[in-house]
Amino acid sequence: MQILIVDLGSQYTMLIGRTLRDFGVRSIVLSPRKAERWIEENRRGLKGIIISGGAASIDGMDPGDLAPSILAMDRPILGICLGMHWMARGYGGAVESPQGQRGYGAEEIEALARDNPLFRRIAHTESTVWMSHGDSVTKLPPRFHRIAQSAQCPIAAMASDDLRIFGVQFHPEVTQTEFGKEMLSGFLDICGIKRDWEPSNIIQQIREDVADAVGPTEHCLLAFSGGVDSSTLAAILAPVLGRRMMCVTLDHGGLRKGELQEITENALAAGCSNADGVWNTFAPWFQFFPRHEAYLERVAAAGIDAEAKRRAFRAQYTIDIDELARESHSDVFIQGTLAPDIIESGAIGAASHIVTHHNVGMDTELRQLHPLADLFKYEIRDLARHLKLPPSISERKPFPGPGLYCRVVGAPVTQELLETVRWADAEVRRIVAEAKLEGEFDQLVVVLLPGSPVAGIKGDGRAYGLLAAVRAVQTSDFMTCRGYQFPPRADNPDPIRKRIEKALVKHPQIVGVVFDETDKPPRRTEFE
Ligand code: XMP
Repeated sequence: MQILIVDLGSQYTMLIGRTLRDFGVRSIVLSPRKAERWIEENRRGLKGIIISGGAASIDGMDPGDLAPSILAMDRPILGICLGMHWMARGYGGAVESPQGQRGYGAEEIEALARDNPLFRRIAHTESTVWMSHGDSVTKLPPRFHRIAQSAQCPIAAMASDDLRIFGVQFHPEVTQTEFGKEMLSGFLDICGIKRDWEPSNIIQQIREDVADAVGPTEHCLLAFSGGVDSSTLAAILAPVLGRRMMCVTLDHGGLRKGELQEITENALAAGCSNADGVWNTFAPWFQFFPRHEAYLERVAAAGIDAEAKRRAFRAQYTIDIDELARESHSDVFIQGTLAPDIIESGAIGAASHIVTHHNVGMDTELRQLHPLADLFKYEIRDLARHLKLPPSISERKPFPGPGLYCRVVGAPVTQELLETVRWADAEVRRIVAEAKLEGEFDQLVVVLLPGSPVAGIKGDGRAYGLLAAVRAVQTSDFMTCRGYQFPPRADNPDPIRKRIEKALVKHPQIVGVVFDETDKPPRRTEFE
């Protein structure tokens, strides 16, 4: 990972990562506290740091977020808006709030130092930028000089060329900034970065690594959920492992409506062979195993805590995988675990534990491989597109491994609640698909909250019933997410929220529906 993006909460942070990836450069987006810990482990490969903007004013920032060790790194740093203010303060300059309006707007800037490396790819002195009219730097820190100004902002950009540190008051990552891409590209030049992220390189590397790690006569199990990660991994490894790989799906009873069929189709598209119909002697096997009762019993006994439910799920999962491995004489267990799963399980450095992933830290008898552990979801999607896998794989939205067991919140799971949430999930997905809104967000979560029964009116009388919650998020890497706002009422006579509400309360047990639009952080993607 060559660039660390420290996220101070700007709505544009993901755009920075996406723009860098378009340049063939990998980056990781982390909150300031996580960034500090990540740096401790990953200093070697790190070539530069970008500190994003943020909605807060510098004076409103949590002082714990102003990690001085990030500024002390001996790497080029680019601070954008709030990131610039943080740097200016940190290095001894001054930042002040304007009297007038805050917000954003297009503005002309004049480059005062055309030869500055940040501007080297730009042929013009004047250009339009998307300026943030919040706080601004009013006194340069020692060893810094002004490199751009605008009519309203005398220090529109600053630099310390010897420290290789740069700050811009505007947002180079948005398209409204005329030469924003050129500025970010200039920063990558300053960092001395190799622009070599290419799907074919990554696929080749994964194949070589796995071929090295698996002995020529060994057999492998691949945990196949039918999602983008495991399907893409199966497609990558099929030519390497062929029949020595078996892709297994455990039907744990928490799958969505129609999901088993989709999983089977994705297994075939990923190049697997399966007994009912398609047969290819050299292709990996695909098998699913029904295991409803064992999971339900174990997860139900775990009670109400989401983490206890995940641990119970993982315990059963481990037992099943070990049993399948014995039956199929497998030696190696391969999983499509991604970077966020590892980071959020606290498996890197001192990163705090956020969520137990059912597939990380399994205590199995098998040797485990996580060939995608360095990659993010948007990168896997690129690999899938490169392999020409169908959109049912490359564009598939994620769904947690423990499935609908994660979607019964604050109460023990029962078969009846699983059925209800399966129905509610299918209803919401149907309505969203009819409204053609699927492309607007990256994950849709529908949960039941049986732990908080609410009073309502059903038929003629007062009745306590279930509350359902609907949550959609926008993100590219799932490390941070924006809560999606379903289109509001305005003058739409049949707004989507109303349609969802009307559909869900048709269920005899559901009396209320809420929408959760909170960002991650502070929230998580899953509603737990
Ligand atoms: P959170 O809620 O941690 O979710 O922000 C980030 C992404 O991970 C998925 N997720 C899981 N996936 N096993 C999985 O395989 C799990 O235990 C698990 N928990 C969360 C979540 O759906 C989202 O896509």
